[in-house]
Amino acid sequence: MSLLSNVLVIETDPNSAVAESYRSLRTSIRHKRLGKPGKGITLMIASPKAQEGKTTTVSNLAVTFSQDGQKVIVIDCNLRQPTLHAVYGMPNEDGLAHDGLTQYLKSDSTQGITSKAVLPNLHLITAGGQPPNPSELLGSPRMAELLDQLKQQYDVVLLDSPSILDFTDAGLLAEYSDGIILVAKYGRTKREWAKQAKERLEQSGARLLGMIINK
Ligand SMILES: Nc1ncnc2c1ncn2[C@@H]1O[C@H](COP(=O)(O)OP(=O)(O)OP(=O)(O)O)[C@@H](O)[C@H]1O
Ligand SMILES: [Mg+2]
Repeated sequence: MSLLSNVLVIETDPNSAVAESYRSLRTSIRHKRLGKPGKGITLMIASPKAQEGKTTTVSNLAVTFSQDGQKVIVIDCNLRQPTLHAVYGMPNEDGLAHDGLTQYLKSDSTQGITSKAVLPNLHLITAGGQPPNPSELLGSPRMAELLDQLKQQYDVVLLDSPSILDFTDAGLLAEYSDGIILVAKYGRTKREWAKQAKERLEQSGARLLGMIINK
């Protein structure tokens, strides 16, 4: 699939060990039996600091769930530095009125949010324009309502997020998530950062499912 970038190992090299590890992550998550019967689950991928592999993990995990026949939506909640759209070869904004998460959260229109089809079973909500107040938007009742609606329509709702220790955004999103996967990068993430990130998530009442050591 030429549309998809080489970050998506799960598509470009499905027989590799890395692709297999994303599939086993999917299996471990399934065994946790999260959420309520008849409704989808919301999972956030988070990490203590920037550049530790959150977007890489969430984008591959989204494809693995969709390959498994699940209806998946992935949301770029990194409103500060959105890159998820690029991984899927999509524009962040294409000029439509309700294009992207920021525009949707800022408006009070009753029109639904626009999503882009990446694969038949996999939809993407891009971040859209970069707002001055990402935390207020992500922590708003409109965001909670949106995630609630999406859980009625999709089996899996995946959230990309900014660094836990640099911003409050991930802590806010944790409250809406059925589970959190913490990503750390070998040789980059300090043990102390991982510990602090875990504590911060636990303060939000989040259910930490596990940690991925990346690279
Ligand atoms: N498993 C991996 N092995 C090697 N490099 C990786 C791996 N995962 C991610 N990277 C590289 O690390 C860099 C950061 O990855 P990514 O964009 O996924 O991190 P991020 O946590 O989303 O960053 P940000 O906080 O800026 O959003 C990228 O250059 C990516 O290609
Ligand atoms: Mg990222």
